Amino acid sequence: MTDTTIHRFPDPTQLYAAAADAFVSEAIEAVAARGRFTAALAGGSTPVGLYERLAQPDLHGGLEWNRVEFFWGDERTVPPDHEGSNYRMARLTLLEPRHIGDEHVHRIRAERADTAAAASAYEDDIARCLGVPAGGSPPVFDLILLGLGPDGHTASLFPGTRALDVRERWVVVNEVPQLSTTRITMTFPLINRARAVHFLVTGENKAAALADAFRRPRDPARYPNHGVHPDNGRVVWFVDEAAASVMDG
Ligand code: 6PG
Repeated sequence: MTDTTIHRFPDPTQLYAAAADAFVSEAIEAVAARGRFTAALAGGSTPVGLYERLAQPDLHGGLEWNRVEFFWGDERTVPPDHEGSNYRMARLTLLEPRHIGDEHVHRIRAERADTAAAASAYEDDIARCLGVPAGGSPPVFDLILLGLGPDGHTASLFPGTRALDVRERWVVVNEVPQLSTTRITMTFPLINRARAVHFLVTGENKAAALADAFRRPRDPARYPNHGVHPDNGRVVWFVDEAAASVMDG
């Protein structure tokens, strides 16, 4: 049974401070229990404030950053130095400021011409790092960070796209006609094994999607975020008042 919590904040700054504390708390707990913390980062623009907060020196001192294994929930099919790269965004805002070693950074090589091979290689990297056989049951990430699109998508699981129905893969290539692009994304089977999922949602442009997330009957084909319900995990929503403005109506 999924345990879902929603935290509302007056503004993004307070949201990012709380989300950073929650990230660190999950990490310290994971390191104490299992010696490391496996985290899949979200892309887009919303997480920038969180990653910048995590990079600030005054942050909680209890986390050994070299115990964190960084992954991504999805990636655009662009080079790693492209302004649209989710890896680049996290590298600039968090990985470099925190001096995270390359051995702890597991990016999706979505720039490869053979995107199917890139998705498979990422699955192999996940299997190797999390210590499970490739192709078997999905491994358990300690934390998966997710955003929410105005259309209800999350990661690169967009409404009406084929990746929504995938059950036997952890990571797939997903054609996204809405954006006339191709993405590589984690799938629901992998996401729903996580110990914790944190959604980060800010801004008025997400208000309708957030209301749909909580008030519409479950329909992942139309509202992909509905497909996120970890079997034995916690889902925590970090939302600001601008994004929550329609929910109360
Ligand atoms: C991506 C993300 C995507 C994002 C939402 C929200 O690669 O873009 O994985 O799911 O979280 O589109 O994007 P913003 O944070 O930019 O609003």
